[in-house]
Amino acid sequence: MTTEFKHSDALSRISPSATIAITQKARDMRASGRNNILSLSIGEPDFDTPEHVCEAARAAIAAGSTRYPPVSGVPVLKEAVSAKFTRDNGLRYAINQVLVSAGAKQVIANALMATLNSGDEVLIPTPYWVSYPQLTQLCGARPVFLATKASDGFLLQADILEAAITPRTRWLILNSPSNPSGAVMDRQALARLGEVLQRHPHVWILTDDIYEHLIYTDTPYSTIAQVCPDLFDRTLTVNGVSKAYAMTGWRIGFAGGPAPLIKAMELVQSQLSGGASSIAQWAAAAALNGPQDFIHECRTSFRIRRDRLVAALREIKHMDCEMPEGAFYAFPSCEAFLGCATSQGKVLKTDEDFVSELLDKTGVAAVHGSAFGSPGYFRISYAASSDVLDEACGRISDFCCTLR
Ligand SMILES: Cc1ncc(COP(=O)(O)O)c(C=O)c1O
Repeated sequence: MTTEFKHSDALSRISPSATIAITQKARDMRASGRNNILSLSIGEPDFDTPEHVCEAARAAIAAGSTRYPPVSGVPVLKEAVSAKFTRDNGLRYAINQVLVSAGAKQVIANALMATLNSGDEVLIPTPYWVSYPQLTQLCGARPVFLATKASDGFLLQADILEAAITPRTRWLILNSPSNPSGAVMDRQALARLGEVLQRHPHVWILTDDIYEHLIYTDTPYSTIAQVCPDLFDRTLTVNGVSKAYAMTGWRIGFAGGPAPLIKAMELVQSQLSGGASSIAQWAAAAALNGPQDFIHECRTSFRIRRDRLVAALREIKHMDCEMPEGAFYAFPSCEAFLGCATSQGKVLKTDEDFVSELLDKTGVAAVHGSAFGSPGYFRISYAASSDVLDEACGRISDFCCTLR
């Protein structure tokens, strides 16, 4: 007799990440002998973690910091996080207003799990990072998507926000610089949203600032609790070390927010994971407290690659690409190619068809825009060497030229 596996109702509300699925497909193609695969689908810096950060981890092991850490984070890191928020964002979070988790992803999961009930609504501007709607649905709540336009620089407009708020709205999620569009909200853009939010005190704001340091304009970085101090008491400011210090594998994220919310998130975390790795927490403290030149070097390198990539994409006939102001993604439109056929006669009906054929025919792995709630686009990560990006653009261009 076979035992049937039955999953929970909650599991049926979520699906695997399209980004991970495409990256895996590219890996499988490589493993099966295709050695010309260019994987531009993954969202992580291609730099090594700085040496002084690795050294801090080794020192933590040598000092025996290997036991269960406090659930909300080791004091040295919580102090470093509090100091980081003051230094970089002008935000004052006391130690009981700081939580450390296993990545920004777990911070966000904790927050949603601690606050959402069935039927609650979470406002998510499109294009969005894939996990926001998934985590919302896992909690039994409903994602409500707020469309943005390329002609507005993919920035959420105040009237769209105002029209979407209902008595069931619990959260608005903001992400600047954005994954996948690279859009950056400046003070004015945030202040316009802040005006709307002031009229709706039941709506809380979760701002995901994970790409804060990867910004290529001269405008200083702004986050909503700083621009709109009236919203401080209902804003969760999320950040982490993954992108800024090339520490994706260390799994450390953190947040500052109102003490009752932080306490509720800590309770969730105490049952789910018990907290983040103690060794990685010491390393993250060294990253936040140590020299920051690494960030400047990465930013310079990413800016050069962005300029080169976007210029090459814009050379392709019928391809539009906004200039992303931050993060490390370009988000060009493939709309003009939909309805066209490949040289083998396959008609590209959707953006998913476009990226799938692109991968099969040219070996370039990118992610379709509909995975981020914006059909007609595709995302290319420029966390890759200039040679790889040049080669990828050449192949994309050749592919587009063959479409009829
Ligand atoms: C917008 C955004 N938020 C959060 C994360 C996850 O960050 P972490 O590695 O800290 O969990 C990512 C990772 O791709 C991201 O793109």
